[in-house]
Amino acid sequence: MRMMNNIQVFPFLLLCFLLVHLSVIVAVPDVPTSTSSYYVEGGVPMKKDHEFRWLARNLTQLRELVLDSTDMSGVSPISLTNLSSTLTSLSLSDCSLQGTFPVNIFYLPNLRSLSLLWNVDLTGTLPQTNWTSPLVSLGVSMTNFQGSIPASMGNLTSMNYLDLSVTLLTGPIPPTLGNLEHLTYLDLRANNLTGTVDFKMFARLKISCIFLLDRTTSLCCCKAMAAIPFQGSKCWNRLVVIWPNSPIS
Ligand SMILES: *[C@@H]1O[C@H](CO)[C@@H](O)[C@H](O)[C@H]1NC(C)=O
Ligand SMILES: *[C@@H]1O[C@H](CO)[C@@H](O)[C@H](O)[C@H]1NC(C)=O
Ligand SMILES: *[C@@H]1O[C@H](CO)[C@@H](O)[C@H](O)[C@H]1NC(C)=O
Ligand SMILES: *[C@@H]1O[C@H](CO)[C@@H](O)[C@H](O)[C@H]1NC(C)=O
Ligand SMILES: *[C@@H]1O[C@H](CO)[C@@H](O)[C@H](O)[C@H]1NC(C)=O
Repeated sequence: MRMMNNIQVFPFLLLCFLLVHLSVIVAVPDVPTSTSSYYVEGGVPMKKDHEFRWLARNLTQLRELVLDSTDMSGVSPISLTNLSSTLTSLSLSDCSLQGTFPVNIFYLPNLRSLSLLWNVDLTGTLPQTNWTSPLVSLGVSMTNFQGSIPASMGNLTSMNYLDLSVTLLTGPIPPTLGNLEHLTYLDLRANNLTGTVDFKMFARLKISCIFLLDRTTSLCCCKAMAAIPFQGSKCWNRLVVIWPNSPIS
């Protein structure tokens, strides 16, 4: 590779310096570092990675960060790594995120709500161990999350809403999901999940309807006869379902 000579390098470095520093000042001038909620749904596209890094590093009191429908295609998901441990709610739905979601976010000690819905170029995995955060709501639908559903998810006993549909998740549904007794919504459709599910494992859940199966059938399996939502589907109290392709009978 040809080296740039000094005459080229100096203006180049100066330009870089100015660009970085000016755009930091210009991009996020009104955000005091003590900000606890940053909410710009459908905001101006966040094209520059360092703008987001500034947010992530300097807003040390941040509790809520909602950037839904903001174009973040220029932001590397790695930049999320330094988000404050004070964070309770992170919502990045439909943000065109590309790359790998940093797993450490799942371990943020105060995180109660995480939405990554509809980021079709975002990959990631769910933590397999030591996952004990106070998560109440988790949505990764329509992402490229892959790997298996960890058994340790059963430790997230405050969980109320869990949407893992339309991802690349594989493997069995861990019976520990049946420990999530506060769940009111469970959607596991359109994955590559396999194995046998005995509906007894969901017996403690208060929800009447659990969304299962694959992209084509889109059926819902119900715990109570009273709650058959889809015409033509049956209601299953003790269902053994084999994924992904067997017709239910
Ligand atoms: C933001 O953080 C950087 C590095 O952590 C620091 O140098 C800078 O002074 C901070 N800016 C403000 C406005 O606090
Ligand atoms: C996170 O913060 C540390 C220390 O301020 C810094 O060295 C590192 O580059 C930051 N990482 C990212 C991805 O911004
Ligand atoms: C899980 O936690 C234990 C005990 O705190 C620790 O020794 C271990 O390294 C952790 N494992 C991971 C993958 O973080
Ligand atoms: C979390 O769940 C796993 C698997 O179900 C279990 O082995 C582990 O002891 C649990 N950890 C805590 C801290 O509850
Ligand atoms: C699901 O698994 C099948 C067979 O292993 C594979 O051909 C297919 O590409 C997988 N689909 C997804 C969405 O991962």
